[in-house]
Amino acid sequence: MMGGLRADELRPERSRTFAFGGLSPGLALVLALVLVQAGVSGVTALDNGLALTPTMGWLHWERFTCNVDCMEDPENCISEQLFMQMAELMVSEGWKDVGYEYVCIDDCWLAPQRDKDGRLQADPKRFPRGIRHLANYVHSKGLKLGIYQDVGTLTCAGYPGSFGYYDIDAETFADWGVDLLKFDGCYAKDLKSLVEGYKYMSYALNKTGRSILYSCEWPLYMRPYQQPNYTEIRQYCNHWRNYGDIFDSWSSVKNILAWTAFHQKSLVPAAGPGGWNDPDMLVIGNFGLSWDQQITQMALWAIMAAPLFMSNDLRNISPQSKALLQNKDVIAINQDPLGKQGYRLRKDEVFEVWQRPLSNLAWAVAVLNQREIGGPGTYTISTTDLGEGLGCAPACLITQILPVKKELGLYEWTSQLKVRVNPTGTVLLKLQTFQQDKFPVISP
Ligand code: GAL
Repeated sequence: MMGGLRADELRPERSRTFAFGGLSPGLALVLALVLVQAGVSGVTALDNGLALTPTMGWLHWERFTCNVDCMEDPENCISEQLFMQMAELMVSEGWKDVGYEYVCIDDCWLAPQRDKDGRLQADPKRFPRGIRHLANYVHSKGLKLGIYQDVGTLTCAGYPGSFGYYDIDAETFADWGVDLLKFDGCYAKDLKSLVEGYKYMSYALNKTGRSILYSCEWPLYMRPYQQPNYTEIRQYCNHWRNYGDIFDSWSSVKNILAWTAFHQKSLVPAAGPGGWNDPDMLVIGNFGLSWDQQITQMALWAIMAAPLFMSNDLRNISPQSKALLQNKDVIAINQDPLGKQGYRLRKDEVFEVWQRPLSNLAWAVAVLNQREIGGPGTYTISTTDLGEGLGCAPACLITQILPVKKELGLYEWTSQLKVRVNPTGTVLLKLQTFQQDKFPVISP
């Protein structure tokens, strides 16, 4: 079990202490006064009409990290070329058609200093035409542009943060035509300024009048000090990270799932149209996950109603990973309009069963084999246990979605469902409940 994690366990690669040093008490006071004057606490900032289903797009961090060395590695450094190439491929390779819409810049896009008017500026070598030009390009492809900043004095990688500049930064992003802001939580002075900063930025974005989706890491940074209040967070953010950064490995995916299941009582009710728990990027198509583990990530991110941000190299991805990421049936589960997050129903030594209620009396069910030894395992479950007792009452049609699509047929309320699941793999199913009055006539 993963309860009681310390901050440094959440983020092994970086200390999570609030390192805010340089800020004068005067500046802090000014911010506090501005917050009060702005009436931040009363603002329902998230009446922004965005993220009615989980956001879909591409985000550079996991795959390209803070690679700023364009001399040595021009193809993979964080530069306008990288994002333009991804935008182009998102259209030409069918990603946009299946719903991936936001092309997102993460940390390390900035010049080391603000300009003379206090405005942020992109690194002039790597983004020679600036972010507005990139936004125009991305928009010309029918896509949206995301950008990254931080609530504290510095971004996590040490570039200028937004503290003390929330309004001016929000206006700059709106001016440039940015459509999403990922707002990180490094280098905030203390819990109070972290929370107030997240709220204030939400307000500042709203005030620009531009629709800018707001992606937060507020609960992740807050949890070591205090239980996050999700009712409050939902009012300000379109999605929020709860747990440490994803890595390109099975152990990372496994930890995220275990942590989410352990906290599902508080997480699941928090999710819904307009606001989602964010278990971090999809690493499908990279180096660290086996084929079965990629299936598990895709299936479980659909069950969790997670934002789907791929962090991979769209220039170089296997047809198999591409087909998985573009699987319309899985995406339909992720994007289901009912907007309810799924949860872990049960777990034994070997198997975990997760389920998610869907619109039109349907359910998604995922059976995950946690064993890391041996071959495929068989799991049997009574259909009375699925869909909170009603998934197959009085009967249901079951379709296997992953690993391959196949109709499993009609099941009654008291049927036994048997699936075979590869080690660290998942079988994803969709159950279509038949209502009494629409029960199909089956000829003898
Ligand atoms: C982390 C954040 C990552 C990435 C990174 C950039 O704190 O959780 O997703 O944005 O900072 O430095």
